[in-house]
Amino acid sequence: MSQRYAVIGNPIKHSKSPLIHTLFAQETAQDMVYDRIEAALDGFAASVQQLQAIGAAGANVTVPFKEQAFALADWLTERARLAGAVNTLKFTEMGVEGDNTDGVGLVTDISQNLGFELAHKRILLMGAGGAARGVILPLLAAQPSFLVIANRSPQRAHELKQQFQPYGIVEASDYAQLSGMQFDLIINATSASLADQLPPLPLGIFSPKSLAYDMMYGKGETPFLSFARSQGATHCADGLGMLVEQAAAAFYFWRQVRPDTAPVITALRAAA
Ligand code: ATR
Repeated sequence: MSQRYAVIGNPIKHSKSPLIHTLFAQETAQDMVYDRIEAALDGFAASVQQLQAIGAAGANVTVPFKEQAFALADWLTERARLAGAVNTLKFTEMGVEGDNTDGVGLVTDISQNLGFELAHKRILLMGAGGAARGVILPLLAAQPSFLVIANRSPQRAHELKQQFQPYGIVEASDYAQLSGMQFDLIINATSASLADQLPPLPLGIFSPKSLAYDMMYGKGETPFLSFARSQGATHCADGLGMLVEQAAAAFYFWRQVRPDTAPVITALRAAA
């Protein structure tokens, strides 16, 4: 019998995860089905229980339930524990295991798909919410020269600095303090693009050959990527590759099979 999986979120109508995992399953000849579930805002745990009751093997979790999934898991991978959020659940006889594949998805997209070497680079991460927190550990593991976390409310950036400084060289900042600095990689992990807004970056922050990466994706260029282009960033990328790579890492976590992501990224770009 096919093994069942699903993505749980609210809203969930526009999630591309069912398409991505269905393409992975076809490509790797895995017998599985993958649904989408819109849980009520107070109904996440009930949705997980229903999935377990029908014998599902796992789930992906998206906005706004990643922190609840973290709390619900019986045990966590190290990267999920440090992220404080879970985007992948595996149901086993011993209980629910929680993982977070967002960070490794970002790093894989940047280093393998975009061919951008992270070691010895100056990285700026904008934002200090859940999206930012989830990617810090894998970024530090790639051994950049340093990572600066910038946030409108600098206190949140300082808290992340405290938490992650055992793992690498991390600084915290507000946007004004960045004036005069330059970075090789600038990642937008804020939710500003959702509101068609741009974090208040100073001019001159992109170095020649720098990569601007927006974790959001959607129709058209985000305000951050337009700004980056106007400021001379040579490479610009949205978060579609990260989306597919985090899904591939979840697929591997469940099935120990690694799908080829390139054809899936191409298919999603063509459909956009
Ligand atoms: P998520 O889980 O998506 O990260 P979040 O926890 O609400 O969501 O965090 C949103 C992040 O985007 C925060 O870092 C927020 O900055 P503040 O902590 O200062 O609020 C950031 N953000 C949202 N809109 C922004 C904007 N227009 N400019 C700069 N940062 C913005």
